Amino acid sequence: MEKLIIHGGRRLEGRVKISGAKNAVLPIIAATLLGQDTVSLLDEVPALEDVTTITEVLNRLGVEAAFDAEKHQLRVDARRIGSCEAPYDLVRKMRASFLIMGPLLARCGKAKISLPGGCAIGTRPIDLHLKGFEALGAKIEIGHGFIEASAPEGLKGTRIYLDFPSVGATENILMAASMAEGQTILENPAQEPEIVDLANYLNVMGAKIRGAGTNVIKIDGAPKLVGAAAMTQGDIYVENAISEHLKPVIAKLKEAGVTIEEDVDGIRVRCDKKTKAVDIKTMPYPGFPTDMQAQFMAMLTISEGTGCVTETVFENRFMHVDELKRMGANIRIDGRTSVVEGVDKLTGCQVKATDLRAGAAMVLAGLVAEGETQVGYIHHIDRGYDDLVGKLVGLGADIQRVDR
Ligand code: UD1
Repeated sequence: MEKLIIHGGRRLEGRVKISGAKNAVLPIIAATLLGQDTVSLLDEVPALEDVTTITEVLNRLGVEAAFDAEKHQLRVDARRIGSCEAPYDLVRKMRASFLIMGPLLARCGKAKISLPGGCAIGTRPIDLHLKGFEALGAKIEIGHGFIEASAPEGLKGTRIYLDFPSVGATENILMAASMAEGQTILENPAQEPEIVDLANYLNVMGAKIRGAGTNVIKIDGAPKLVGAAAMTQGDIYVENAISEHLKPVIAKLKEAGVTIEEDVDGIRVRCDKKTKAVDIKTMPYPGFPTDMQAQFMAMLTISEGTGCVTETVFENRFMHVDELKRMGANIRIDGRTSVVEGVDKLTGCQVKATDLRAGAAMVLAGLVAEGETQVGYIHHIDRGYDDLVGKLVGLGADIQRVDR
């Protein structure tokens, strides 16, 4: 089994080029299914397991999709879709596969998808996605581990209110409504940066979406969308976008005593002393992102003082707490809040990546821990981080990947 071996205690310095974000690229890849006349070509696609998985999903739909991980390019020819059924063996690997349902419904008038799997960070229902499809006129049936949706007459624009601003439901509804007849008004949608990225991409394909990134999105259905070439995360774009997208994270880092300088090329992060404890509470964007909660908790374990981490988005996202405690962290869970009392040092030991972001947290803990840390179950990390080891080594970390 592959592991990461980290020798902690090194100061990290230098420059690192950030790869495209997983959560931005996956919905854009799903959107290529809407491209009818021309082939879609995506550049700067990060080399992630989840990208490979969704590419396989597209191939299983009879679409020609090829990912060149070295060149970071993905080519999708969805002019013909051979099948509207996504099997369990692929969907269970990655919950985001469910994002093909909206485009399939729009393109083929039907879709049959195995109930999704993914990270075990909560029950993660899909009721909001399904409510959206139903509002657009689709009929939904659930049984034998599959969800079947059909709209033989096509989808019709309507007004939809989301009870919770779900990222995935917003994306699925945007894609389905892009080809629906008439106008769809989506109220209380997610406002995450990846929603804006997806809407921009759909608009390049010929969709008419306004208001992405705000609390009302208007979509005027177009009868046909076409494949498009796009930089999912071009250099300048990613670098400019970062500070804006990371506002809550940067604010909390500053509060913790970290020096942050933002310029046109990116963000400089400096810290020469122990960080101070801060409280965080996860919220939909522009609140503090749940996907940074575990990494922040790793920082709090060795900060000065006591910090509270409250998770409001997912109900079971504290699995990294036990792993951090094995390294000597002082953490107490009280319902949806973890109380983290800073300790002088963490000590290296064997730990596991309990999910994707928890994996990143264990690596961070390993980088500061005394002695050797071995992180197992790193397939979780591979799902969402492009060459994490290479990037850290470039910054001076002592980390390697071994197979033992
Ligand atoms: C996306 C991200 C994930 C991130 C999460 C929240 C991708 C591929 N994944 O996941 O990394 O942690 O946003 O920022 O982009 N919910 C319902 N009903 C639904 C859908 C969601 O009740 O139909 C609830 C979930 O149980 C959860 C909350 O809404 O408590 C947030 O989920 P959602 O925003 O949908 O997250 P994902 O799109 O799955």
